Formats: sequence, structure tokens, C-alpha cells
Amino acid sequence: MAPVDLNSGVLAPVSDETSITNLTVSGHIPDDLNGTLVRNGPNPLSGRFEGSDVLDWWPEAAMLHALRFGDGKALEYRNRWVRTRAWAENSGEHAQNHIETNPNVNVIHHSGTTMALAEGGVPLAIDARLHTLGVPVTHAGLADGMTAHPKIDPVTGELVAFRQDWAPPFLRYMVFDPSGQRVVNQEVDMASPSMMHDMAITQRWSVFIDVSVSIDFALFEQGFRIPIRWYDDRPSRIGLVPRAGGAATWIEIEPCFVLHVVNAYDEDDGTVVLDVARCPWGFRFDVGNAQFESNPLASLWRYRIGPAAGSSYAKQLDPSHIELPRINESLTGQPYRFVYAVEQPTDEEMRGIVKYDLKARCIERYEVAPGDQNSEPVFVPRRDAVEEDDGWVLASVYRGDSNTSDVIILDAKDISKNPVATVHLPRRIPAGFHGAWIHAI
Ligand SMILES: [Fe+2]
Repeated sequence: MAPVDLNSGVLAPVSDETSITNLTVSGHIPDDLNGTLVRNGPNPLSGRFEGSDVLDWWPEAAMLHALRFGDGKALEYRNRWVRTRAWAENSGEHAQNHIETNPNVNVIHHSGTTMALAEGGVPLAIDARLHTLGVPVTHAGLADGMTAHPKIDPVTGELVAFRQDWAPPFLRYMVFDPSGQRVVNQEVDMASPSMMHDMAITQRWSVFIDVSVSIDFALFEQGFRIPIRWYDDRPSRIGLVPRAGGAATWIEIEPCFVLHVVNAYDEDDGTVVLDVARCPWGFRFDVGNAQFESNPLASLWRYRIGPAAGSSYAKQLDPSHIELPRINESLTGQPYRFVYAVEQPTDEEMRGIVKYDLKARCIERYEVAPGDQNSEPVFVPRRDAVEEDDGWVLASVYRGDSNTSDVIILDAKDISKNPVATVHLPRRIPAGFHGAWIHAI
């Protein structure tokens, strides 16, 4: 991979924490937008990244950014580092009072608890003002760690999750009931560790994507901070585990790399439909040069899986390069129609938002100017929404000229139009990973 300047532009971290209530807004913020957009991402405690590789960016300290809306107003922006043991050691606080984890990837709300999520480590509960509350008391089982991409079933209220590990057992499957109690906690048989970042659910199955990327501890000796790489001889597979637990059915697929799932659902004949952002490969390491090759960009693919026959069929739904796909999460695990995602015109840009209509087979685009970059789009349903795309799409847009960020609110029914409202922050929200709309805070 080409060296990346992690300390300039949208990737550059911020060096302080702030709260701002006097926010400038263009347009009209919808009256029914009551809640908080929370974003999460790596931001070194020193305020400056070391190194020049995406793998130097990924593991840095978790910083949250929150923009709170209510009564047709943007009420407050604030940013805080998550209070982990590393944060305490850096800040002169009592380290033993803080958990050793780094929840820098995602944010969810389940069973009354909002949590910052780590890549396999322990999630930490947070409150409305981004105070860190510690291991979620509602979800004691999460002290074992969890993926940053669990799924909440909107029908059953369950939190469905996994934990992958570099040491055996390489994969653990977990289900938490609507109160947060862990009701499934089983090992899934795997012969070697997998770089498994996301999962899907249907009403019948939990779906695991075991791609051809595994662990190579020799990479530590060469100075890399995350020891993952592509293996040509490691098959890619999709695993189906019954939602309530049980043995996995593994179905081999053409080798590929999948970081993020879009959604999945069951058809009446038992077919499992799985939509993902798929690359032909990822994290391929050139042993001779001791360097990673540039990753190819992802596009939207659909798998149709026959669990009984052990068969699968894959089709690219659109050739546009996209990542960070999101949906109306009231349809997680069910038939759905609309996908929202970030466009990637080049491998150095996340610029533009797409909306796929999978039924009408058409695409809408919200264009972002060259020099600017945007976060993943987060869908927020309108109050009393009836149709799937009846709501808003929120995203953070970094403005290259001013080195500041705006948060835009798009009408999800026509994202190509100008935003209905834009909140102009006087500073930037760095690129980060994922965000969530939290109604409750
Ligand atoms: Fe992710």
C-alpha cells in the first residue's frame, strides 16, 4: 500500500476534547429528529498518528463525537476519548480503575445501554454526554469481548454477536436476549483464525463470513501492528449457524474479501439471501518487498445460498465502488429494498453517498465535491414512518478548504437533492469508522 499521511486532511486526529452549543445551521432541521448522531474512530491520545499505513491508523485510541438534535435544533456537539486503561495511563488517572480495551469501531444501543464497540475487545457503556460508564451492567457476558458489528433483531429484540480470536477457540457465537442476558454462548468449530469483521442474521440463521484473510504473527516481527494477511490457499466460506445455536454449515465460495455486510434474509423456499460489500481480495502481502499491496475497492454483491444443498450463487449487483453500507435497521434480517453507502471514486477517497433501490434497480447519488470527504450514511426513520425510506440520511462531510466538518441531513426519499439542513461545525470530525443514531440519548 502507498504510504498515507495520517496527520493531514480528513484522517488527521484532533488533540483535545470540546463541547460546543452555539452551532451554525443552514436549512431547517426536522422537528422529529430527536436524538444523537454518535461517531467513533481512532484518534491517538497524543493527538498525532505514528506511521503511514492504514494498519497504523486502525488500532489507535477510541474517540467519540456526538451531535445532539431536538426540537428542530442542533443542540450540542461534543467529542470525548473513551476512558480506557490506556487513556488513564496517558492522563495520570488510576489505571486499575479502567478496562483494558479499545472500543474505537462502532456504537450501538441495546436493552437501554449505549455502547462503544471494539474489534473483538470489551465494549464499554457510555451515556448521553459521552461519559464512559464501564463494562455494560446490563450485558455481563460482554466482559468476554464482542465484534464491533453485532446485529440487533428488530423482531425479537435479541443482540446477536460473535467474538473472533487469534487463539483457540477462534470463533464464539453469542446471543443476548432483549434484557441483555446471554442465552447462547458456544464455540463454532474453526481450524484457524479468521479476519472476521461483520456478520448477518436472518430469522433462521446467523451468517458468518470466513474469508481468505487470516493471522500471520511474523508480521509483528516486521513492524506491523495488526498481523492479518491474505492466503491464496485459504478457502473463503459462508457459515450458517441456527439462530438459537447449533452446528455450523459451511459453504465454500470463490475467494474474496468482505469487510461489511449489508443485510440478509430468508426466502420462503429456504434460500438465504446475503448482500455484502465484496472485494476480490484484501490485505495481500508481498513477502519479497515486505509490503501490503493496495486493496481493490469493494462493490455491492448478492449471494443466494441453499443451506440444504450446500450451494451458493454470487452476483455483482452494481459495479460502483462503495463501502460502509447501511440500511433502515428496522429491517435487519428481513427482506428489504434500500441500501445507503459511501462511494469510493478512488482508493484515497470516500466521497459521495449512494442509495440503491434493489427493487426498482436504480441508484440515486448525493455528490460531494472533490477535496471533501464524507462518513458513512446513517439512516434515521421519520416519526410514524410507513415506507422503508421514509426518513433522513445523516453523514459527516469533511471540507478540505476549511479543514472543518459539516453534518448534513438528507431526505432519504431523494438523496440527490440539497440537504434539508447542514450543521456547520467550527472544527473537523476525523474520518473514523462507524456511526449510529441513538434515539435514547
Ligand atoms: Fe466496520
